[in-house]
Order: sequence, then C-alpha cells, then structure tokens
Amino acid sequence: MPLAAPGPGPATGPLARVAVVSEPVAGATSEESGERRVKRALEGTVALVTGASSGIGAATAATLAAHGAAVALAARRRDRLAELAAGITGQGGTALVLECDVTDQEQAAAAVDRTATELGRLDTLVNNAGLMLLGPAAGAPLAEWQQMVELNVLGLLYCAHAALPHLLRAAADGPRQVADMVNISSVAGRFARNGNGVYALTKFGMGAFSESLRQELAGQYVRVSLVEPGATATELASHNRPEILDSIRNQFGQTMAAADIADAIGYIVTRPRHVAVNEMLIRPTEQQR
Ligand SMILES: NC(=O)c1ccc[n+]([C@@H]2O[C@H](COP(=O)([O-])OP(=O)(O)OC[C@H]3O[C@@H](n4cnc5c(N)ncnc54)[C@H](OP(=O)(O)O)[C@@H]3O)[C@@H](O)[C@H]2O)c1
Repeated sequence: MPLAAPGPGPATGPLARVAVVSEPVAGATSEESGERRVKRALEGTVALVTGASSGIGAATAATLAAHGAAVALAARRRDRLAELAAGITGQGGTALVLECDVTDQEQAAAAVDRTATELGRLDTLVNNAGLMLLGPAAGAPLAEWQQMVELNVLGLLYCAHAALPHLLRAAADGPRQVADMVNISSVAGRFARNGNGVYALTKFGMGAFSESLRQELAGQYVRVSLVEPGATATELASHNRPEILDSIRNQFGQTMAAADIADAIGYIVTRPRHVAVNEMLIRPTEQQR
C-alpha cells in the first residue's frame, strides 16, 4: 500500500536535508571575492514550495536551496517554516517564509505574488501540499473528503493559476530559458485501492491536469512534471482518525525518506532546457503495490 508511516522524529524534520550537495553546471564558473567558483544549477532562480513545513516539501525546499535557488516556503505552520528558513539562510541561501493556507484562493495567490515581488521572479513551483485521509467510503465523514478535494485539487489549482504568468515569463526571459511546475501526486494517482478512493480521485485528477498542462506549455518551455511517490516516512498518515491509523499501521513496510523524493525533484528541475522529465513513479524497493 502506498501509505506513509506516521509521525517522524527529528530526522525527518524541516532541517533534515539542509546539507545537500548540488551538482555544478558543467563548465559554468563565476567570479566571487576574486576567486573562481563553480556555479550551481539553479543559481539566479526562485522556487516556491507548498507544504514546506514538513516531510517532502521541507526536504525539497532544502534541496532546491542547495542547488542555488532562492526558495519561498509556504504552509500554515510559521514556526516550522521559520526553522527551515533559518537552516537555509545559515548556509548562505535565501528563504522567504509564507504562512498561508492554499485552500484559500486569495492566500494562495498572495503567496505566489509575494514570492515574485520579494524574491524577484518565479521559475519553479512545487505543488506539494497534500492530505491523505483513508478508510471505507461507507460512513466516512464527508468533511474528510471535502478537505482532500480542497487541498489536493483546489489548492493546487489556485497556486498553479497564480503562478502560470510568472512561469511563462521566466521561461521567456529568465537565466535558464525554462521554468518548471512539479506536481506531487502518489502511487495512488496510478492505482486506486480499497480504502483510498477519494485520495486516489484527487491524485488521478492531478495527473490529468498535469498532462493537459504539459501539452499546452511544452512549446513555451514551461515543463510540467508529475512525481508519484510510494510510501515515504512523513507526517502524512498521522492526520487519519485513530481507528483508521490502527487499521493501516500494520500495512507499513519499507519506507523512503522525504529526502529520497526531494532528490528526484532536484533531478527533474536541474535537467537541461531540452529535457523534460514528464513523470516519475518512485517506490521503496520492497513495495509491491
Ligand atoms: N508520505 C507519503 O508516503 C506520500 C506518498 C505519496 C504521495 N505523497 C504526497 O506528498 C505530498 C507531501 O506530503 P508529505 O508526505 O510530505 O506529508 P506531510 O509531512 O503531512 O506534509 C504535508 C504538508 O502540507 C502542508 N499543508 C497541509 N494543509 C495545508 C494547507 N491548507 N495550506 C498549505 N499547506 C498545507 C503541511 O503544512 P501545514 O500543516 O503547516 O500547513 C505540510 O507541510 C502530498 O501531496 C502527499 O499526498 C506522500
């Protein structure tokens, strides 16, 4: 089952992946303090990561910062974002804390606008914020279904809509002449299972939107990528009702670290301009379904 183990310890907290080594851009150097140094792949670019206060989002923000991007960190828990931002700036990076609820269209648009205004541009959007509430459909609290649709579908759409003009501009006149939207789906976006129907619905929908948008924007060099993780140790499952948690706990097998998914996202957005990684399905080696 593509389920995450609940409740990470500090090892998967926001600071867990700040120390990432970036691949240099081949042959690119710049002068700084009279010394030649290798330019990192995302230097001069700006990335916005939603759901950056924990798990995959926090690890991704740290990875993109290590590749040289200035990063805007969006989520509701300001303290967690501030801790991550301090880790990034402590290593010489640039980070902007954006406390926001992306299910609120105005807050989502404001997060995108503040990124472009305060960091100067927007080259990369990682639509990562998500919620997975499992269990039988019969008798399920409707509020759980509404929460998943509001965050996994509408939250993504609000951010994507606000970001598109900036991404198109970045691809047209930015330093890399290419921009990226990376949407974090799930194995559940490929395979629906008994008990994950609404979560799978939102992730299948994300796949459809991403593929349509990819075709629309391909000629304008805005790459749209879909990442489909399997079981990854984050806080994701911990939001389920206790009785659901009890019933799914023994399904957890091997898990990946959030950093494993962040590495994949870092790979996707550092490809040369003529290479687009459209889709990436990543499971722990032992995960069968
Ligand atoms: N972990 C897995 O096994 C797994 C597998 C497949 C796919 N995924 C996908 O990976 C993505 C990240 O999940 P994760 O595993 O890293 O889980 P996580 O640790 O629970 O992270 C979810 C993030 O979303 C943010 N978020 C929740 N509601 C929000 C809202 N209304 N507005 C803004 N941000 C909000 C949370 O921050 P705040 O609470 O501070 O707002 C948190 O930073 C999700 O889309 C999930 O579906 C995860």
